[in-house]
Amino acid sequence: METKMDEIARIELDGKTIEIPIITGSENEKALDISKLRAQTGYITLDRGFKNTGSCMSAITFLDGEKGILRYRGYPIEQLAEQASFLEVTYLILNGELPTKAELESFESEIDHHTLVHEDMKRFFEAYPAKAHPMGILASMIVSMSTFYPESQDPNRSQEAFQLTIKRLIAKLPTLAAMVYKNAVRHPFMYPKNDLGYIENFMHMCFAMPTEDYTPNPVIAKALNKLLILHADHEQNCSASTVRIVGSSQANLYASISAGISALWGPLHGGANQAVIEMLEMIQEDGGDLDKWIAKAKDKEDPFRLMGFGHRVYKNFDPRATIIKKACDDILDQLGIDDPTLDIAKRLEQVALEDEYFKSRGLYPNVDFYSGIIYRAIGIPTEMFTVMFALGRLPGWIAQWKEMLDNGDPIGRPRQVYTGENARDFVDLDKR
Ligand code: ACO
Repeated sequence: METKMDEIARIELDGKTIEIPIITGSENEKALDISKLRAQTGYITLDRGFKNTGSCMSAITFLDGEKGILRYRGYPIEQLAEQASFLEVTYLILNGELPTKAELESFESEIDHHTLVHEDMKRFFEAYPAKAHPMGILASMIVSMSTFYPESQDPNRSQEAFQLTIKRLIAKLPTLAAMVYKNAVRHPFMYPKNDLGYIENFMHMCFAMPTEDYTPNPVIAKALNKLLILHADHEQNCSASTVRIVGSSQANLYASISAGISALWGPLHGGANQAVIEMLEMIQEDGGDLDKWIAKAKDKEDPFRLMGFGHRVYKNFDPRATIIKKACDDILDQLGIDDPTLDIAKRLEQVALEDEYFKSRGLYPNVDFYSGIIYRAIGIPTEMFTVMFALGRLPGWIAQWKEMLDNGDPIGRPRQVYTGENARDFVDLDKR
């Protein structure tokens, strides 16, 4: 993106005026380009948690946290969630444009042809403890794929080889995720059925048994399609930034995505969907006294936080939460499920939204506040919820990784303000 000469900010430092170029994004977002500041002045900028730091220029996802806007490649999330298929959105995020019918068919067919994982990968599952967390297994499985495809480790591989790695990942992640699920419930693995759609195939690998016929329920397939689309990208969040920074050392795509899965696992990020359901169940078992839990969430001495509430960038509402809340109602209705945690979630939302503490801090339900209730309704165990998030986020991670390389971004390496001891002499062991 070009910077114009008249777009210059000036700051006074040590009696000198420093000119800092202003960068303007396509949605008129403004940034100060401080990349030369240290060379010019010796100063760095300090921004713990990168709350106000742009780490890159990106053309994938636009969001406006104040207005509650989220768009992939310019298309509003509301339209994509309602009208598109997950693979269509995957193609869009990766390539920048919606596919034509022929392009989509060809993309779907290529993905279909890579769904099998190497038979030896099944043997890993024999070694994990029965109660291993699915996210730990998934992260290990994905980085292990680099050992089965060693050519992926060559940073100078051809475009063709690179595209093959992308397709393998998109095709095999559902297979591995379903194996993680089957391992957790101690059921036999089911091989993929490539005449099924991407989501229906995942459902088949999770819910079918070798002993009986299985037809994926279209209501559930539609719900999963929507959930995966809502999670497909979210610009420079914790896991996407992790994928970019790992990839910036020219580590291979499998290693970078595995690192993204690990970053997603934490309860302050993707792990919140598991934490929300556990919290709602705890409140229910405790008798459902919402005032008590709201008071705990507001008490700074108490570590309890309202999981599924608050977001680093959305300070008015999370547009994904609005879509998911409606989808949650529809799905439970269509499946004829009466889930008491939905009732608690709605009441909790109501109480929090009227409370001055939450209002003044811009704390609203985020995408994960209702997603767990849907996953539970369609038979996915709580510990698998974040795996579902990873399935949805994969296209975003890959696109962020690819964009970082295509833009020639340098290796990620922040600076620090050192606050430790000044230089001192080593003291011999017997004198300490
Ligand atoms: N419950 C109670 N208080 C909260 C909550 C919450 N869920 N979230 C933020 N606050 C308070 C903080 O204590 C702080 O209060 P203070 O100003 O009095 O000190 C203020 O609101 C601002 O919060 P920060 O933690 O500074 O905001 P930050 O942007 O760093 O964190 C985060 C955002 C991590 C999402 C936070 O809101 C949180 O922990 N939420 C719960 C976990 C969650 O749902 N994570 C999923 C996020 S969505 C996703 O990753 C897909």
